[in-house]
Amino acid sequence: MTKKTLIIVVALITIGTVFIGMSEVEARPPHQFDDQVAQGEYIANIAGCASCHTPYEDQYMQPELSPEDLRTVSLFEAVAQDRENRWLAGGRPLDLGPQGVIFTPNITPDEETGIGEWTDEEIKSTLKTGINRDGKRMHPIMPSYAGMADSDLEALVAYLRTVDPVSNSVEEIPETQMPPWPEVEAPAEPPAADDLSARGQYLIHEILKCGECHTPLDPTTFAPRIDLFLAGGQPFEGPWGIVYTRNLTPHDETGLGEWTEAEIKRVLTQGVRRDGRRIVLMPWEYYASLTADDLDAVVHFLMNDLEPVDNSVPELDVNDVLIEFVDIGTDADTDAAATADDEDDEDDEEGLSNLAMGVIAAVLIVVIGGVVLLVRRPSSSKES
Ligand code: HEC
Ligand code: HEC
Repeated sequence: MTKKTLIIVVALITIGTVFIGMSEVEARPPHQFDDQVAQGEYIANIAGCASCHTPYEDQYMQPELSPEDLRTVSLFEAVAQDRENRWLAGGRPLDLGPQGVIFTPNITPDEETGIGEWTDEEIKSTLKTGINRDGKRMHPIMPSYAGMADSDLEALVAYLRTVDPVSNSVEEIPETQMPPWPEVEAPAEPPAADDLSARGQYLIHEILKCGECHTPLDPTTFAPRIDLFLAGGQPFEGPWGIVYTRNLTPHDETGLGEWTEAEIKRVLTQGVRRDGRRIVLMPWEYYASLTADDLDAVVHFLMNDLEPVDNSVPELDVNDVLIEFVDIGTDADTDAAATADDEDDEDDEEGLSNLAMGVIAAVLIVVIGGVVLLVRRPSSSKES
C-alpha cells in the first residue's frame, strides 16, 4: 500500500467512525435553538402547557357527556386533543373531584377570546405570580412558573405570540380562596446542560413540575407535603380504576432505588411502565420531546440528588380493558402485557441497530473508497 493510499484509507475510516457517532446522537443538544421562538416552543412542549390548554376533538366534547365520561376522556390525552386546529385554544376539562370540572383558558393570541391583547409583561407576571391580568388569583392546578429563568420565560412568551390565534370562548373559572404562590428567586439564565444535577433540579422543579402530581397532599388542607416531595402517593381515580403516583425518590424498596436509567427513560419517552403496561394518566407524550441531554439531567437528578424517602404507595388498580383501549401509537402499546425484560431487549435492539447502521455506513465508505482507488490506480501509479 502506498503512503497516499494509506492516508486515504485512514481518512475514510475516520469519516466512517464519525458516521457511527452521528447515528447515535439523535436529539439536538439544549440551548442551541435557532432562535428565541424555537427555545420557547421547546419549553412549552416539555412543560406540557398543551396537556391542559389544548381542547379535545369535538367528538369527545358533546354536551351530553357526563363528568364521568369526561374523566374517561382524560385517558386518551394526546390522541383526543385537537392539536392540529386548536393548539392551546383552551377548553380542556380538568376534573378536580369534589371541586367539580373546570375548563382551561384560551392562551392563543386571539384578541377577543385569548391573550392577544395582553402585554408581554402581563403574561410574564401571570406565570410568575399566579395572579392573572384581571387581578384574579388563579386556581393552583395551573402550575407556578415563578422559578423559571428569565431567558426561558421570555422565550416562552415570544413563542406564545407566534401560535395561531383561535377563537374559542371558554367558561371563566370561579375565584378560588387559595393561598398565594410561594415567591421564588428566578435565575437570569437556566443552568448549563453539562451541570447535570443543577439542570435536572431546575427542569423538575421549575418547568416539568413532576412534584405537582408526585407529591402527596395533606388530606385536610390540600397543601403539598413538602417533607414527602416527589415521594408519590397522590391518587387519581376514575372509570379506569385508581392510580397512585409513584415514589420518585431513590428509596430501594418503595422508590426508584432499584430501577435502571433505561427504565425511567422508557416511562418518560414511551409511556411504558416498569411492569410493561401502558402509563394511564401521566402526560408523558410531552416529556418525550426532552432533548437527550435534558433527559439525562432529569434522570441523573432523580437517581443521585434526592434523599431516599420511605413512602410505600399502593399498586395501581386499573381496568385492563380501558388500558387496552387507549391507542397512543407507540411500538410498545401493541403488546401491553410485554414484560419489562422484553422491552429492555427492544431498547437494546434499537441501540444496536443504530450502531449497525453506522458500521455498515463505515464499511460501505471504505469499500467504495477502495474501488475508487483501484479504478484510479493506473493513473496514480504513473504519477508516483
Ligand atoms: C395542569 C394544567 C395546566 C398546565 C400544565 C398549564 N396550565 Fe395554564 N392554566 C391552567 C388553568 C386551570 C388556568 C386557569 C386558572 C384560573 O383562572 O383559576 C390556567 C391559566 C393560565 C393563564 C391565564 C389565562 C387567563 O385567561 O387568565 C396563562 C397565561 C397560562 N395558564 C399559561 C400557561 C402556560 C404558558 C403553560 C405552560 C408553561 C401552562 N399554562 C400550563 C391549567 C394549566
Ligand atoms: C399529571 C400528573 C403527573 C405528572 C405531572 C407527572 N406524573 Fe409521573 N405518574 C403519574 C401517575 C398518575 C402515575 C402512575 C402510573 C400511571 O399513570 O400509569 C405516574 C407514574 C410515574 C412513574 C412510574 C411508572 C411505573 O412504572 O410505575 C415514573 C417513573 C414517573 N411517573 C415519573 C415522572 C416524572 C419524572 C415526572 C416529571 C417529568 C412526572 N412523572 C410527572 C402522574 C404524573
